[in-house]
Amino acid sequence: MNYKTLFSEDVSAFRSSPVREILKKVDISKLYYFSGGHPSPETFPLDRLAALTEKVVAKYGGKVLQYGDTRGQAELREALARRFDIKADSIQITSSSQQGIDVCARILLDPGDVVLCENPSYLGALNSFRSYRAELVGVDLTPSFEASKKREEQLERLLAAGKKIKFFYVIPDFQNPSGQTLSLAQRSELVSLAERYDFMIVEDSPYRELRYEGESVGSIYSLCPERTIHLGSFSKIFAPGLRLGWMVAPQDVLQAVFVCKQSLDLCPGVLNQYLALEFLESGELDSNLKKSLELYRGKRDMLLSLLEKYMPEGVSWTRPEGGLFLFVSLPENMDATALFPVAIEKGVAYVPGSYFYADDSHRNTMRLSFSYMENERMEAGVKLLASLLAETQGKQL
Ligand SMILES: Cc1ncc(COP(=O)(O)O)c(C=O)c1O
Repeated sequence: MNYKTLFSEDVSAFRSSPVREILKKVDISKLYYFSGGHPSPETFPLDRLAALTEKVVAKYGGKVLQYGDTRGQAELREALARRFDIKADSIQITSSSQQGIDVCARILLDPGDVVLCENPSYLGALNSFRSYRAELVGVDLTPSFEASKKREEQLERLLAAGKKIKFFYVIPDFQNPSGQTLSLAQRSELVSLAERYDFMIVEDSPYRELRYEGESVGSIYSLCPERTIHLGSFSKIFAPGLRLGWMVAPQDVLQAVFVCKQSLDLCPGVLNQYLALEFLESGELDSNLKKSLELYRGKRDMLLSLLEKYMPEGVSWTRPEGGLFLFVSLPENMDATALFPVAIEKGVAYVPGSYFYADDSHRNTMRLSFSYMENERMEAGVKLLASLLAETQGKQL
């Protein structure tokens, strides 16, 4: 039977992550693995899981295994509202921020609509928007007068071409993949653009609480709650296996999400919500987070100093104040995308930077994650990558 004749038109717009395609053929435990955005398993409170489960079963009984509220359990929404000083009725619990992204696409996009995004941006979001047949337009957010003028001209051109801009997808804190954080001025400019050109902002911020130095910058949601959908996640502050996150949004948006979620999953996982609630309310989340921040700060510093020590001339990288990634730029004539399978064969994995650009450009860049690799293996991994780059430098792949 030819199933393909039955598939919807959307299916042809689905794109698998090229990283997942390549890595599914190899044993990642054998690689120096700078690829994935996985949290370090050392941050998981495994030894507390049994006690947490016992506690929530004793407190909430059969409720923890029953269907729950589509918006998420009221107790968790109230706890998050207290944490972020917002109203509980402006929160929707999601089955992780990836679902939050997809739900935004689902309620806002028709085929051909424009989604503006940073250049580069998170691949999982770009692929979600592509699956709804949106047009992705990368925008350079460099903070300069000339760049700001260019942004306005770019938006004017889109409108003149009859395009409908629906939202700007942005990761303002310790961005994936660049590791960079938008200043308050950059966030304010985005808000002004949204107001002037009448679009929403989807603020995806799963790394917001992973700051290792410097001052926190106010969220875009706090600057403009009426035009912003803010996405948060328990993946990096508790455990990604729980698949739990939250969305903060205006009431009309939440009403559309409420109906949309009914056909997606009826409600987020209830037991997981109570585990997160207990972890949060007991103060354990914050004490665990404190340890995670120390661990990640050390890992970031280690990767930065190893790059300094081993990388050949002409290679530069970002210096993130938080999050899990940094972004490396190679000399213009080098091609990190073509080099990727070779690197895997040699035993070291990164993510080609071009995968994060809406137009697949910037083939001379790569994302390195410092969260997952054991510290003891980090030096050998950087050395191997650096020697591969030195060997390849000048050669056209
Ligand atoms: C920017 C960004 N958004 C969303 C996600 C998805 O995270 P989750 O669905 O686990 O919350 C990731 C995953 O790494 C990410 O980097």
